[in-house]
Amino acid sequence: MKSFILLSALVAFVAADSIEYYTTGNDYYDVDAMMKDSTSFKKFVDCYLDVGPCDALTASFKVNANEAIATACRRCNDAQKHLVNRTFWGLKNLHPEYYEKFQKKYDPDNIYFADFEKAVAGY
Ligand SMILES: *[C@@H]1O[C@H](CO)[C@@H](O)[C@H](O)[C@H]1NC(C)=O
Repeated sequence: MKSFILLSALVAFVAADSIEYYTTGNDYYDVDAMMKDSTSFKKFVDCYLDVGPCDALTASFKVNANEAIATACRRCNDAQKHLVNRTFWGLKNLHPEYYEKFQKKYDPDNIYFADFEKAVAGY
């Protein structure tokens, strides 16, 4: 009986601690294809930087951006980490000027980006 109660308590604890992952419009979005098209990439970035309109899919990613960055993607599932990895790769390598603007807006004091990028490396 005692061990049953202990076990129940443990299960409850684990359940309470389980991560609630972000919900997006499409975790398997082909972000590499999008970034190859400079018009689409610019639209995507403009949405994130609040200088252009957002389509529904991009908005579904953006809504979690501040929290994801500040928490090193704690609530990102593997597919979402892959999206972040590829997006940041593209920002850095294809358009470093966008990367700089991203950093200015989402991590102005340069506190979070290093851990955030580390968390998604390899995905
Ligand atoms: C994405 O993952 C690769 C390893 O697969 C890593 O080398 C790269 O630094 C990651 N990109 C970013 C922006 O963290």
